[in-house]
Amino acid sequence: MIEFTLPKWYDLHTHFRQGDVVAPYIQAHLDMGCVGALAMPNTKPPTAVVFEADEGGEYWSVERYMRDLRDAGGDQFSELIVPLYLTKDTTPEMIRKGAESGTLKACKSYPPHGTTGAEFGIPVTEFIDNGVFAAMEEAGIVLCIHGEEHGLPPEQYFDRAGNAEELFYTERMPRVREKFPNLKIVCEHVTTKVAVDFVHSSGANIVATITPQHLLYTIGNLIQGLKYHLFCLPVLKHCADRDALRAAVAGTDNTKFFAGTDSAPHATKATACGCAAGCFTGGIAPQLYAQAFEMAGVDLSDVQGQDMFKNFLCLNGAAFYGLPVPQETFTLVKEDAPVEMLKTSQGDVTPLPLGLGQQNLPWSIWR
Ligand code: DOR
Ligand code: ZN
Repeated sequence: MIEFTLPKWYDLHTHFRQGDVVAPYIQAHLDMGCVGALAMPNTKPPTAVVFEADEGGEYWSVERYMRDLRDAGGDQFSELIVPLYLTKDTTPEMIRKGAESGTLKACKSYPPHGTTGAEFGIPVTEFIDNGVFAAMEEAGIVLCIHGEEHGLPPEQYFDRAGNAEELFYTERMPRVREKFPNLKIVCEHVTTKVAVDFVHSSGANIVATITPQHLLYTIGNLIQGLKYHLFCLPVLKHCADRDALRAAVAGTDNTKFFAGTDSAPHATKATACGCAAGCFTGGIAPQLYAQAFEMAGVDLSDVQGQDMFKNFLCLNGAAFYGLPVPQETFTLVKEDAPVEMLKTSQGDVTPLPLGLGQQNLPWSIWR
């Protein structure tokens, strides 16, 4: 039986939502060896000011959302980062003051209307001209970016010749990189070879997160049987893209790609008129990543393979965000384990494998 021990890790992109459901979502993260998390600000209202004193009716503050998360069990994390949701109302002054106070560590850019809770996003290029990126670069604030072109007609959004993510990384991001060469950028949940190549061709200040589902599956898995639990944004891509993601993480020299699950629970996933984007992987992400590494040809019984996994899950992201590598550990074991539904006050939430008809995972966690 394969078994290896790792430092506890940070999930550097997740969704804990708001209200009563936060506690079970945070507990699921604690249960999978997480010692910290970066919790996305696409709350309702969006978390789009830094200080509680600046809250109006329209926006929550980073201060307030952090407190809500801590009160719901997030105080058990050693690190909690809530990025500021960038909107039409974000100013360079907000960035400077937030950075000075130590409350602001990162900002999140959403493509307007491009995904769940992205209604308040504005085109990323506007921050090039309005001083916000300049203030972030100056203060060392990380830009977390959902890299998809917004507002495209269907034939450009997802086509054989290209898609929203490819357009974003060929048209928009080179301009951001050129104008702000020292801005720290996390290209979040990358799904295409084009995005992977963009990250490889950039300096150490530009890195990326990858989700378990994008390493494990392709669009074909989603389409066969219309497995809607696999629907997330950016949507799964083709085999050549998945190969590029796998190659990015399965090298001994990977310092730029790291874990950010984008675990995005939805109590109501599909309705009569559509499907919410997001895969719920809380509680089982290291197990899914281990499965994905094996599918990428990494031998996890071997120290070199385990080191690649450790770089991806535990070390690269911590180094980028300047977080300490925890002394505490957890152990992954190659042993079948059942996947359980998560009970919340809004109903049962389906973890991704159950949504695909898989009752068991090949890996389990010993704590
Ligand atoms: O699939 C997704 N779900 N992608 C996102 O960008 C947002 C997330 C959510 O909040 O549900
Ligand atoms: Zn997300």
